[in-house]
Amino acid sequence: MSNNFIYFDNATTSRPKAPGLIKAICDFYSSLCMSPGHSNHILGGEASLIVQKARELTCTTFGAQSPDHIVFTSGATESINLVIKSLIQSGDKVVVSDYDHNSVLRTVIKLKKSGSKVCIVQNAESRDEILERYMQCISKDTRLVVVNHASNVNGTILPVREISEYAKMQGAIVLVDGAQSAGWVDCNVNTLGADYFVTSMHKALLGPFGLGVLVINNNDVVLQPLRDGGTGLESENLTPKSIIPSSLEAGTMNMSAIAASIAAFEYTMTEEMKVNRILVKELFKKMISRLGKYSKIKYFGPNNEDDFVPVVSIRHNELSVMELRNFLEFKHGILCRGGLQCSPLRHLALGTSPEGTVRVSFGHKTSEGDVEVFLHALSEIEGE
Ligand SMILES: Cc1ncc(COP(=O)(O)O)c(C=O)c1O
Repeated sequence: MSNNFIYFDNATTSRPKAPGLIKAICDFYSSLCMSPGHSNHILGGEASLIVQKARELTCTTFGAQSPDHIVFTSGATESINLVIKSLIQSGDKVVVSDYDHNSVLRTVIKLKKSGSKVCIVQNAESRDEILERYMQCISKDTRLVVVNHASNVNGTILPVREISEYAKMQGAIVLVDGAQSAGWVDCNVNTLGADYFVTSMHKALLGPFGLGVLVINNNDVVLQPLRDGGTGLESENLTPKSIIPSSLEAGTMNMSAIAASIAAFEYTMTEEMKVNRILVKELFKKMISRLGKYSKIKYFGPNNEDDFVPVVSIRHNELSVMELRNFLEFKHGILCRGGLQCSPLRHLALGTSPEGTVRVSFGHKTSEGDVEVFLHALSEIEGE
């Protein structure tokens, strides 16, 4: 397949991945090809070292208490399900918001059907409004507060720390969804005040598919696994003790992805990537400042020009979302995601439901040239 296109769909998954990622996967299968814990020979020991290294890098990236506070899952979706389903029983109250992805919304709506109380923070755009609405929803009987760190529709960063502080005062537990923020902004779990922080490796962390992270930053609660099975520990015991992280990782781990995550973390920690993030965000700001000149284009960008992830949604006055998306792809080779981006309530709030928007999301390789082609394409439909 040719790579002769401009890729503006990094919020779905980043392209290209970190250098070294493909080699790490190939090396894993061509030499080690083993999972840890389950086999006590030399290969099993080597595999354990790889998992340990990946946990250490994850721990450093998110400021976790220890590598053992890192749980590897199949993605942010699984991590979110694990925390919510473990914490919320019938009668418990959970607070979410219209910034949340369906991985949160569908999970809590299902629990509502079996007796949980769900309060949804809605229609808040500015930082202050978001915080205020969360404060209105959180009460002394709230068990869990879920906060999406960064919107996958318009790049807005939510005031996570302030929400967490208030939630803690009310005795609630805080789960932060960092699927869109990790790799773009600081995601130290202590700065955020997160009891649990989740993300996927395949977005701005430039890692592989099929690997998610759950950072446990609360030692008072014992999370229940989504699935039970072999952990390689206490095999004689049919009701083993809950030991993190292994009891939450039953079964065979996605070892090639874990090996690849090492390459991804090492690359995203480099000076080069730190500088790159700043440059790409500057480029994004410049593009946003030029979007206003198109009379037929309406755009929905971040609520703060200094604190955001580089994601913006657009609509055209006369074209449908799919016509606009198709025009960008088939006429100009620009790949964007059209529709609701799995965030139906955010689109209700923006007034862009049910069609959604065309989402433009930058990646670490987005260049000035890409932006010029995109703006030129918009000028063309503007009739300029
Ligand atoms: C904000 C947010 N949360 C959760 C997810 C789910 O991530 P994954 O599909 O990698 O599990 C996504 C994916 O786009 C997302 O944008």
